[in-house]
Amino acid sequence: MTLNFVLFFVFGILASQAMSRTMNEAAIAEHELWMAKYGRTYQNKTEKDRRFKIFKENLEYIQNFNNAGNRSYKLGINEFADMSHDEFVAARTGYKNPGNLATSSPFSYAEFTDVPTSLDWREKGAVTAVKDQGDCGCCWAFAAVAAVEGINQIKTGKLISLSEQQVLDCSTNGNNHGCGGGSKTDAFQYIMQNGGLTTEDNYPYQATQGACDKEKETSHVADISDYARVPANSEEELLKAVSNQPVTISIEASGMDFKFYESGIFSGDCGTNLNHAVTVVGFGTSVDGIDYWLVKNSWNQSWGENGYIKMQRNVDASEGLCGLAIRPAYPIA
Ligand SMILES: *[C@@H]1O[C@H](CO)[C@@H](O)[C@H](O)[C@H]1NC(C)=O
Ligand SMILES: *[C@@H]1O[C@H](CO)[C@@H](O)[C@H](O)[C@H]1NC(C)=O
Ligand SMILES: *[C@@H]1O[C@H](CO)[C@@H](O)[C@H](O)[C@H]1NC(C)=O
Repeated sequence: MTLNFVLFFVFGILASQAMSRTMNEAAIAEHELWMAKYGRTYQNKTEKDRRFKIFKENLEYIQNFNNAGNRSYKLGINEFADMSHDEFVAARTGYKNPGNLATSSPFSYAEFTDVPTSLDWREKGAVTAVKDQGDCGCCWAFAAVAAVEGINQIKTGKLISLSEQQVLDCSTNGNNHGCGGGSKTDAFQYIMQNGGLTTEDNYPYQATQGACDKEKETSHVADISDYARVPANSEEELLKAVSNQPVTISIEASGMDFKFYESGIFSGDCGTNLNHAVTVVGFGTSVDGIDYWLVKNSWNQSWGENGYIKMQRNVDASEGLCGLAIRPAYPIA
């Protein structure tokens, strides 16, 4: 070996060590900034080191994804950056199959033909601000309530923010298990049987299940008479329904890309293992010609596009992207 070669080799090792040290330092700095932004503190050094390791892995995944630059959406560091996969799924999702798959009303939009090319129920004043389920697997309550808020505004002209806490505390029917998960149609069933919902202000969200407040439960301001399912596995039927009102869907939302979605048209990766419930509040086509569903999530406005995600529409699979066409349902007022 020549001296040059040895020097080259030694400097190579030193340089790569320096580079990984710099990358680690950059990640540490990012973590500190992130902790400050989200007000995160850790009890001790062991916990902080453990969280940093998760954070760094997520950061690298996101950077590699964005650097590849060949997808229709971008990822970003968000509130979930130091959570492990299992923690995330337990805290932030929570869809379960309904206790009762039968419905009382048939699909009412089968003959509907006046489908626009794009629609945004927010612009029509039928969507409240994005909410935050916090560390409680009650997406099912948020999805159902958003759809009830929508149909109530469409029928009465009044947009009223309604109470998820009421649903969380009081809807223990069917397959509803509070923060442990539940079904949006079982939530509709409860709302219908109870004669409606009270306001968010009257029965505010606590991110934990408590005893049902009977007095608040009976101060209804918005009611539904029934609910119906959209025929399964048809984005075309779903389109007819969403043309008429916001519609709840169930999706698989536990993948890295969904968790760290920041902007653009989400096209997967995801399967059809339904574990999250959300509400479709519109649809359209991007400037690049990709059809999408406009979906309201319940992970705060800091996630995605101000709390929303655009999910690719008219994909090859009949179940829709992430299984979104498998189990859509909507309330009837
Ligand atoms: C450090 O904090 C974690 C999480 O809060 C806790 O589970 C663990 O017991 C703590 N360890 C020590 C040594 O205090
Ligand atoms: C994007 O690029 C990465 C890295 O080159 C590659 O692994 C991946 O398959 C590509 N994805 C698509 C959808 O083209
Ligand atoms: C949403 O996140 C912001 C910080 O990103 C926080 O201040 C706010 O309280 C959160 N909203 C809810 C409803 O938790």
